[in-house]
Amino acid sequence: MHEPLADGGVIRKLWIGEAARYRDHLLRLDGDSRHSRFGGGVSDEFIRNYVPTALGLRAVVHGFFVDGVMRGAAELRLLGPAFAREAEVAFSIEAPWQSHGIGSVLLDRTLLAARNRGIRTLHMACLASNRRMQELARKFDAELSFDFGSVVGEVAAARPTALSVLCEFVVDGHGFATAVLEIQSRVLKPV
Ligand SMILES: CC(C)(COP(=O)(O)OP(=O)(O)OC[C@H]1O[C@@H](n2cnc3c(N)ncnc32)[C@H](O)[C@@H]1OP(=O)(O)O)[C@@H](O)C(=O)NCCC(=O)NCCS
Repeated sequence: MHEPLADGGVIRKLWIGEAARYRDHLLRLDGDSRHSRFGGGVSDEFIRNYVPTALGLRAVVHGFFVDGVMRGAAELRLLGPAFAREAEVAFSIEAPWQSHGIGSVLLDRTLLAARNRGIRTLHMACLASNRRMQELARKFDAELSFDFGSVVGEVAAARPTALSVLCEFVVDGHGFATAVLEIQSRVLKPV
């Protein structure tokens, strides 16, 4: 879980106040990826309005960063009233970084976060034509069973354990350290 990704990037949770990075990432998606991510063509204005709404307190967004730029995201949004057991998940990876295993790591982290929040059912709006997303979900079929007709996934081992909570804490600690180094390198960059 701690090995650097092949593309030299890192995966960490998005901090409050990083909405602009998420928005810019979604705006950079090419037409096909944007269509797959939102289940149809959406305008730049839609994305600008979407991000502040999506990043409420009940969302956990993992970002994939390369040289400090967000190139991928997994958005987990809890649905319904507090303590509900359902959530929605959506993935977006910019085209040059697709098929490099990033989606697999993002799904792994998202499932851990979902389990630790007691989520039992994950909804994913995935187009029937989206083979790559379906292959990705199939890789996790021990933890997630997908019915692509109704696009609903079940998180099988939903109960959090001490180990699963510790795991999330450890990967967050790693992500935090990386983010601090990234900020330091930006602040200390010679002018
Ligand atoms: C769908 C998406 C999240 C997948 O992430 P990814 O990083 O590209 O996928 P991975 O490299 O982890 O590949 C996952 C699996 O998909 C399959 N796969 C990879 N590339 C593929 C391709 N070009 N065609 C078909 N299957 C493919 C493989 O089985 C792979 O697993 P493996 O490498 O262990 O064999 C990403 O491509 C993406 O963001 N696409 C645009 C937006 C989107 O479709 N979002 C999903 C809707 S919410």
